[in-house]
Amino acid sequence: MKKINANELRNMWFDFYKSKGHALISSASLIPENDPTVLFTTAGMHPLVPYLLGQKHPQGTRLADVQKCVRTGDIDEVGDASHLTFFEMLGNWSLGDYFKKEQIAWSYEFLTGEKYLGIDPNKLSVTVFAGDKDCPRDEESAEYWEKAGIPRERIYFLPKENNWWGPAGTTGPCGPDTEMFVDTGKPACSPECSPACSCGKYLEVWNDVFMQYNKTAEGNYEPLKQKNVDTGMGLERTIKTAQGASSVYETDLFAPIISEIERLTGAKYGSDEITTKAIRVIADHIRTAVMIIGDDKGVLCSNVDQGYILRRLLRRAVRFIKQLGGGMGLLSQIAKVVINEYKEVYPELGRNAGRVIGEIDAEEGRFEKTINAGMKKFQAIKEHIVGDTIAGNTAFKLYDTFGFPIEMTVELATEAGLKVDMDDFNKAFEEHTEKSRAGAEQKFKCGLADHSEQTVKLHTATHLLHAALKKVLGDSGIHQKGSNITEERLRFDFNFPRPMTAEEIKAVEDEVNAAINADVTVTCEEMTVDEAKAQGAEANFESRYGERVKVYTMGSYSKEVCGGPHVEHTGELGHFKIIKEQSSSAGIRRIKAIVE
Ligand code: ALA
Repeated sequence: MKKINANELRNMWFDFYKSKGHALISSASLIPENDPTVLFTTAGMHPLVPYLLGQKHPQGTRLADVQKCVRTGDIDEVGDASHLTFFEMLGNWSLGDYFKKEQIAWSYEFLTGEKYLGIDPNKLSVTVFAGDKDCPRDEESAEYWEKAGIPRERIYFLPKENNWWGPAGTTGPCGPDTEMFVDTGKPACSPECSPACSCGKYLEVWNDVFMQYNKTAEGNYEPLKQKNVDTGMGLERTIKTAQGASSVYETDLFAPIISEIERLTGAKYGSDEITTKAIRVIADHIRTAVMIIGDDKGVLCSNVDQGYILRRLLRRAVRFIKQLGGGMGLLSQIAKVVINEYKEVYPELGRNAGRVIGEIDAEEGRFEKTINAGMKKFQAIKEHIVGDTIAGNTAFKLYDTFGFPIEMTVELATEAGLKVDMDDFNKAFEEHTEKSRAGAEQKFKCGLADHSEQTVKLHTATHLLHAALKKVLGDSGIHQKGSNITEERLRFDFNFPRPMTAEEIKAVEDEVNAAINADVTVTCEEMTVDEAKAQGAEANFESRYGERVKVYTMGSYSKEVCGGPHVEHTGELGHFKIIKEQSSSAGIRRIKAIVE
């Protein structure tokens, strides 16, 4: 196999697929759109699901890309030779275009061709789907491999567990796959040793998925309208194999990040197992955190969903830096190296560098406070414990009140020879998540704290205010950025680059009062988000809405997607008055207003 670096591999991929008539597409966001079943984009196919299901892609039926992916299911394995929480996936797609014959011939060409990876064909083994009640045995793929030059004894038939891919969430496109492996030359671990074995003799380099089924919520596999190809080659893993490195961390991709960690902490990679593992975890977690925050739809640290994963990554990195004897403020210095290394391939990292550094520093500061408070609390728990198990409720309190990650409680407990009652903890955690989800829904349903007569009036006034702002300030992309209503007043945040003038404030008030005086009927209809948009309805947080939504219309004044409730006639509001117009944060203005 040719010794190539990451950039050479990306370019080689693009050149190859361009020569086969593919359009190149940029990596989609790491934060999936319209898919509540997963937190992150975990594979290249993810953003393409609608096209695999039959929608027309604007770039045609042959696509190739390098997709940013995050998989955090194995976070505790990070630090060994191969697990990473972020990786890049080289992919190509046929959207109802070519199928097994072309893909297998091309795979062989890319793997063994002199111009491409140049792998010795004698070192290649492949696996194909053995067949079951859902899908027949894939003799066809085996025949194409044989034709390409792989002898029968190196074609393995394996079950769904090994040779099936997808769906990316719980439902959606999936199908049998064929996987390609390089033999490292290690002796077979047993007579049954095969690519299915994890002994390290066979390294997987590529997966061609023949996406021809749709898995339904009931668990059935229905044939798709079109037969697709989805392939995935992990960039880091392939580079590791090409560079003959013993782990992904010893490749050109990680070299500058690891040097910076060594420089900042004084620790030496390879000096002993614990140090090596710590450096790997720090490198992996900061790289992933940079990608998550630096994404154009980047998230910030929080206690739920993506924000929680991000927090966990950064806080784990801090712990391992401390273990190496490093001080505060190192995270963002390491992050700068990551940004520098990747900003040409992923320009959003350059654009969003300020946010990345700012959030990492802020989270480190927050964590320091947490640790100090939490450590004290943990000591107290330890001193008063009866038996050897920390109750789930106690661990949850540490998490909930002090932001102490549960993993950290478990690690500290283990160090002290104690256990944590995880079943109990999980119960408490789920209850909490339920509550915060209900809270979030409440918030997003137009920010209503309760449904008293006055708050309902203010809610209707908020819609009229939103529409009036667009009219007076010019509808140049003004949108709601937040809303909160109490008995006394409404609060409305929107994006606008400067303070409003007194004239503009007056004009907005007049506009709202005109709508009130017209005493129009407030009507509500149900429709899909697309229909709502086609009617010109204002729809905030669009990806959070379910399929059908309510649209509230107030004469010709306002049309907005919203959960309600609202008054029946605008005349019920009385008189509208803005009491404050101020800055909320950079580029965001805040209005407080009343009805009387
Ligand atoms: N979607 C396939 C994978 O991730 C190619 O392996």
